[in-house]
Amino acid sequence: MHEGRLVRCGGWEKSYLEKKDLSFDIHFFDESLTPENREKASEYDVVSVFVESSVTEKVLKDFEGRMVACRSTGFDHVDTDYAASEGIAVCNVPKYGDSTVAEHTFGLILTLNRKINKAIEKVEDGDFSNEGLRGYDLAGKKLGVVGTGSIGKKVIDIANGFDMQVIASDPYPDREAASEKDFMYVSRKDLVKKADIVTLHCPLTDETKHLLSKEEFDLMDDTVLVNTARGKLIDTEALIEGLDDGGVRCAGLDVLEAEGYVEDDVEALSLEDQKDMEVVLEDHLLIDRDDVVVTPHNGFNSVEAMQRIADGTIENIEKGKNIVNRPGK
Ligand code: NAI
Repeated sequence: MHEGRLVRCGGWEKSYLEKKDLSFDIHFFDESLTPENREKASEYDVVSVFVESSVTEKVLKDFEGRMVACRSTGFDHVDTDYAASEGIAVCNVPKYGDSTVAEHTFGLILTLNRKINKAIEKVEDGDFSNEGLRGYDLAGKKLGVVGTGSIGKKVIDIANGFDMQVIASDPYPDREAASEKDFMYVSRKDLVKKADIVTLHCPLTDETKHLLSKEEFDLMDDTVLVNTARGKLIDTEALIEGLDDGGVRCAGLDVLEAEGYVEDDVEALSLEDQKDMEVVLEDHLLIDRDDVVVTPHNGFNSVEAMQRIADGTIENIEKGKNIVNRPGK
C-alpha cells in the first residue's frame, strides 16, 4: 500500500513536491475527489484534497483509519463528523495565508472603492477621461471585520495602516488584540449597521451559513461588502436585493455560494435540488453586475502561501499534526 497521495495536484505544486525528500511515496492526480473516482483513492493511507473536492460520507466509505489532508485552512468541504466516526483523521493547514488573504481582501476593497477595474477597461478601450471613476478614500472610514482570527487580525493591521477605524464581531473576542490593535467589539447587528465596509473572515459552519441574509442587508446603508471567506456565509438572493435597494453599494467576492457549479454547466445540470439550481443562476446574476467584482477563489494564491501549504501538508502527514476532528474508531 502507498503511504501518501496528493489528489488534484498539478503544475507548480507537483514540481515543488517532487523535489522534496519525502518519507512517503506520493502519487499525483489531476481530478478532484468525487464519489465516481473514489475507488482510485482506496489503496492509499492518505488522500490530500483542495477545497473543490467535496469529501462527503459517500466518498469516505471504506476509508476507515486513514487520513484526509486538506491543503487549505477551511475544511467545510469535508464531512468531519462522519470521518471521526470512522476513525478517519482530517487535518488542515492553519495560518499559511493570513497576510495573503488579507492582502487580497484589500485588493478587492481598493478595486471597488477606486473603481480600478473600470479605469483599466476604459483605458484599454482608448478612453482616457476619468468620467465615472470618482472613488472614495479609505482613511477615516469604518471597517467592520466579522471574525477576528488569523486573517481577520491581519486585515485589521492593514486597515490601521490606511487610517481606518475598525469594529469587529466574533463569538470568541480577543480582548488583548482589541486593545493592542485599537479596535472595538460590537454585536453583528451593530457592525452591519455602522460599518462603511463589511468584510467576512469566519469559517463556514452550520451556525454561520447565511450569516448575512435579508435581516442584515436591511440594516446596511450604502455599505461596501467583501467576502474572501466562504460563499455560503451570504444568502445570495438577499444580497442581490440589497444591491438593488441600495443597502449594499457594491460587493467584492472571492467566493460564491454555488462555487464549483457556477463555472461548470455540466456540474450545474447534475444538481437535483431546485433551490441549488436557483443559487447557481443568482451567482451568474452577481457576476454580470457592474457593482460586483468577483475573483475565482484566488485569495490564497501567492507563491509564498503555496509553499507554506505544501510544506504544512507534508508536516501534517509525517507528524499527524493539525487534526481538526476527533477520530474515534
Ligand atoms: P481562524 O480560525 O483563525 O479565525 C476564524 C475566526 O472566526 C475565529 O476567531 C472564530 O471565533 C470566528 N468566528 C466563528 N464563528 C463566527 C461568527 N458567527 N461570527 C464572527 N466570527 C466568528 O480562521 P482564518 O485563518 O482567519 O480563516 C478564516 C476563513 O477564511 C477560513 O475558515 C476559510 O473559510 C477562509 N479562507 C479563505 C481563503 C481564500 O483563498 N479565499 C484562504 C484561506 C482561508
